[in-house]
Amino acid sequence: MSEPFQPPLRIGILGTARIARAFIDGVTDSQRVTVTAVASRDAVRAAAFARESAIARHFGSYEALLADPDIDAVYIPLPNSLHAEWSIRAARAGKHVLCEKPLSATAGEARDMFDAARRHRVHIVEGYPYRAQPQTLKLRGMLDAGLIGEVRLIQASFGFTLDSGANIRWSSQLAGGALMDIGSYPVSLVRMIAKNRPRRVHAIAQWTDGGVDSALAATLEFADGLIAQIACSFGTSLHRQALIAGTHGTIQTTYLNHTSTPLQAALQLRVGADRDAVDSTVQTSPVNGFLAEAESFERLIRQGPTQWSGTTPEESVDIMLTIEAMLESARSGGTIDIPAA
Ligand SMILES: NC(=O)c1ccc[n+]([C@@H]2O[C@H](COP(=O)([O-])OP(=O)(O)OC[C@H]3O[C@@H](n4cnc5c(N)ncnc54)[C@H](OP(=O)(O)O)[C@@H]3O)[C@@H](O)[C@H]2O)c1
Repeated sequence: MSEPFQPPLRIGILGTARIARAFIDGVTDSQRVTVTAVASRDAVRAAAFARESAIARHFGSYEALLADPDIDAVYIPLPNSLHAEWSIRAARAGKHVLCEKPLSATAGEARDMFDAARRHRVHIVEGYPYRAQPQTLKLRGMLDAGLIGEVRLIQASFGFTLDSGANIRWSSQLAGGALMDIGSYPVSLVRMIAKNRPRRVHAIAQWTDGGVDSALAATLEFADGLIAQIACSFGTSLHRQALIAGTHGTIQTTYLNHTSTPLQAALQLRVGADRDAVDSTVQTSPVNGFLAEAESFERLIRQGPTQWSGTTPEESVDIMLTIEAMLESARSGGTIDIPAA
């Protein structure tokens, strides 16, 4: 049976971020969502951005956009330190929120955001476009079906070269750093697979003079014995890779946000516990992750939580608890315990 027609979900964007342009490009052909407005701290910048991106309305402050009754939801690609404040203000204004990763600067902020969402009867979710990719949906299905047995070890890394110019990622005030920016991806992947938060973490990091981590590597141990190793860096060539090793095989994934070629959308599967294991490529469809994510967000709002492929509130809080513990470990040199849920 086909779904009854509904007009597209009307999304407003807070800030003229670089990534907002990619989001707009991604959703441009969607029948389910439409970007109807953008706001900037600067009215001239908002007008220019709206003109360049063919957005109907623009506002010279975030407050003004939130006051617009013709907007159903907001996409928040602000610096990490502002995610909590503006998500909570959006919830108070009755808007649903698709907030960029990482959800917040601390686990406490994440909890405050979900409290606000409950109070104001809206959804706040953290956007990791890879979570809506067919590649990731297939991965989850394969793991749940026990194709590689019990997962015992995960190695996941994400790095690229960030030049030394002005960038929110170099600012400790804006909650930058490699772990918050790109390390949050492998942390979220491991949380998705483990279905639990780690019980303890140990990390080392390299630090900038400004006090953010430019590279970090960590070991995470889970209560059921699963071990994960996570690495991220602003000083390597671009890579994004994860190896998931179970008692009866392995899976490798790129966990990419956007897959434009069949190769990028494939999973590498090895089934068998020994040298006679059988290798195969599991093909999935290439997809723009922003489109898949935004349409899953629309279905969450209109059809309910089972339609959302992204992180649950519990996962987002656990991701922030893990990130906080990793940073504390890297600063102190000690192993940090994370209390059980
Ligand atoms: N999912 C993904 O693929 C992906 C990729 C990249 C980034 N991200 C996430 O998206 C967010 C934005 O990243 P970005 O690289 O696009 O950022 P960006 O280009 O630096 O944009 C951030 C925007 O925030 C607004 N802003 C408000 N207060 C600010 C302040 N004190 N300093 C700087 N900007 C401020 C600015 O807009 P106005 O001045 O116009 O208000 C600015 O355009 C981050 O949370 C990041 O983790 C996600």
